[in-house]
Amino acid sequence: MANDLSTTILIFGASGDLTHRKLVPALYNLFHKGRMPERFSIVGNARSTLSHEDFRTQMRDGTQTFSAETFDKDVWEAFAPHLWYHPGDATKPDDMTSLEGFLADHEGGHANRLYYLSVAPFLYPTIVENLGTSGMAKEDGGWRRIIIEKPFGTDLASAKALNKLVHSVFDEHQIYRIDHYLGKETAQNILFLRFANTIFEPIWNRNYVDNVQVTVAETVDVGHRAGYYDQAGVLRDMFQNHLLQLLALVTMEPPAAFNATALRNEKVKVLSAIRPVQIEDTVRAQYDGYCRAEGVAPDSQTPTFAALRLHIDNWRWQGVPFYMRSGKALATKTSQIRIRFRRPPHLMFNLPQDGEAFAPNTLSICVQPDEGIHLSFEAKLPDSTSETRSVEMEFHYRDSFEEVIIPEAYERLLLDALLGDASLFTRSDEIEVLWGIIDPILQGWNNPDAPAVTSYTPGTWGPDTADDLVKRDGFSWGQGCIHDHEDKA
Ligand code: BG6
Repeated sequence: MANDLSTTILIFGASGDLTHRKLVPALYNLFHKGRMPERFSIVGNARSTLSHEDFRTQMRDGTQTFSAETFDKDVWEAFAPHLWYHPGDATKPDDMTSLEGFLADHEGGHANRLYYLSVAPFLYPTIVENLGTSGMAKEDGGWRRIIIEKPFGTDLASAKALNKLVHSVFDEHQIYRIDHYLGKETAQNILFLRFANTIFEPIWNRNYVDNVQVTVAETVDVGHRAGYYDQAGVLRDMFQNHLLQLLALVTMEPPAAFNATALRNEKVKVLSAIRPVQIEDTVRAQYDGYCRAEGVAPDSQTPTFAALRLHIDNWRWQGVPFYMRSGKALATKTSQIRIRFRRPPHLMFNLPQDGEAFAPNTLSICVQPDEGIHLSFEAKLPDSTSETRSVEMEFHYRDSFEEVIIPEAYERLLLDALLGDASLFTRSDEIEVLWGIIDPILQGWNNPDAPAVTSYTPGTWGPDTADDLVKRDGFSWGQGCIHDHEDKA
């Protein structure tokens, strides 16, 4: 990355999990691949008192554990001297001034700076304000960018307020709102699947697609994050960002160019076309035992699972139902998008089985794990007259790109932020449109007439009501990525 100026990456909240699990390992991997700027420093900031050496040791342990595949002692030795630590409470103006002093001394002149807010969201406003008052947002001798972790707000009003506040200090071109799902290789590949090929796009519409499903299932439960999660719930934690972003990539119109403005314009356009969700088209549930987790209110009604039915009011998607579900403590970890196509208009075969029992064609985009794409279609069963069976054509990253280790999402996103490419980050209007979809559901759920939160057994696929949501349209949830060929509905 050629640039005359040195670059400082300043991580606020450097003692938190994200820094040693994701951020520093990602930066280390970028360094390993020769993708870091020629001159750079990574400065950790948090309240705990640590020496530079303590910080380096902690980061080394994290990188060794979480980037085991790529860890190389010699590379680490070359990388470690770029790591620095400056203690302080960034919500205190004096500490911010001291931090600015440390950076200025360290940089010894003009430098670029990337700030990373890896702190509790309620601290964002104060830290951003302090960055403003100490002159740290001004681009008068190098660029200044800020990465803001999710959640960006807790509803539409708070997201608007936060946008306003951040805009009072930083210009939109300096702001990178992160959604790590957009950094996943397989999520990025959705656009390549659709727009670097000719065979999919002509059928990617209401004339050929009969329903689309987005599943993001996790086996983990709330773990040690109850303090945050019990306030948030699955809709804010997963739908407002990850699931809707996947949906946007699958449903957007082709952008005219592959750049941040064009891509985000198209996402905003399609997200704005989502029809307000009816409460009858929602399901919410909580896994048994959730309320016993440490930090969860004993009578908590927070959903750990949700399923939604959505419609997109535009020419391409009118009449096509979109089903989305996500939850914790489910049977399998899988993130996948399944596009199911319409049945053939007429079946000429003398079928021994009921024509309706034919499985329609499905295209499954396997976001994780076992990243790939599967296309299922019908084939004639050999040695029968007209019996068919569903078969699959499968593309697996592990086979086709054997030599490549799929990078962690944070690696791509940090590199893009360093390069000034905001394509995979959420723009201010986009974040507001996203909250605009979620807010009415949250409000509807607060209504005393709304169906109550149901429960589900950990290790299952969630409550029966989620199955009913698709069943009433004559469908069932499909598992195109984990080989369950029972889906005939
Ligand atoms: C985070 C959520 O954004 O995404 C977590 O806060 C969730 O609750 C995680 O576990 C899932 O990410 P991934 O990459 O493991 O699918």
